[in-house]
Amino acid sequence: MAELPRHIAVIMDGNGRWAEERGLSRTEGHRAGSETIERLLDHLLRLKIPYVSLYAFSTENWRRPKSEVRAIFGLLDEFVESRLQKLVKKGVRVVISGDISKLPAKTRGQVLNATRLTAKNRRLVANFCLNYGARAEIVRAAMLACTQSRGKITERQFRRFLWQPSLPDIDLLVRTAGEQRLSNFMLWQAAYAELYFTQKNWPELGPRDIDAAIAEFRRRRRKFGGL
Ligand code: FPP
Repeated sequence: MAELPRHIAVIMDGNGRWAEERGLSRTEGHRAGSETIERLLDHLLRLKIPYVSLYAFSTENWRRPKSEVRAIFGLLDEFVESRLQKLVKKGVRVVISGDISKLPAKTRGQVLNATRLTAKNRRLVANFCLNYGARAEIVRAAMLACTQSRGKITERQFRRFLWQPSLPDIDLLVRTAGEQRLSNFMLWQAAYAELYFTQKNWPELGPRDIDAAIAEFRRRRRKFGGL
């Protein structure tokens, strides 16, 4: 039987559409979306999948109305406040990719606290991408590589300068809500990812949908450029 993916990455799209379809506010859509994150983490723990990356806030999301940006960070604060103890107990390790110096001070403190309190956990690494853009990550890595290494640099050495060097490559990249693009998400890490798109909006994604994505992944034959 084909192997399970080790690293799943998710572009969580469609919170707004889910809310609009129900006559709810966009914030309610993001709130429902944060509940989907909890369900996903629980399911990955059951499946023993050790790495997940979540596109929670992109460098482009600052273009949204201030009120929506504030609401998203408020929900992130709530998420950490209400679930951190559970994450600690369940063995989830929170790590962050992205420049969090630009986040509201409270949110920055919350996420740093979450990374510290879960640092010893080993069952599932949950990489929250916050104020994250893949091009910015690659440019930052190139700058660090220039200043910190002399002469030639290999792909392996370059990787050390990414936000989370110890994350393995992405095996399966899932995007919800019908759009079929990468939107500046983990371009380095997704070089050989299998892409899976579903019409469902993020808030309505459940364990069975994750199973379907994994089943499709296991049917694909990965060649990594070989035969
Ligand atoms: C995409 O939906 C979603 C986002 C831009 C933000 C993702 C945020 C969350 C899941 C909630 C925040 C909470 C935590 C814990 C990170 P969209 O608004 O682009 O949907 P649309 O395309 O239908 O408008």
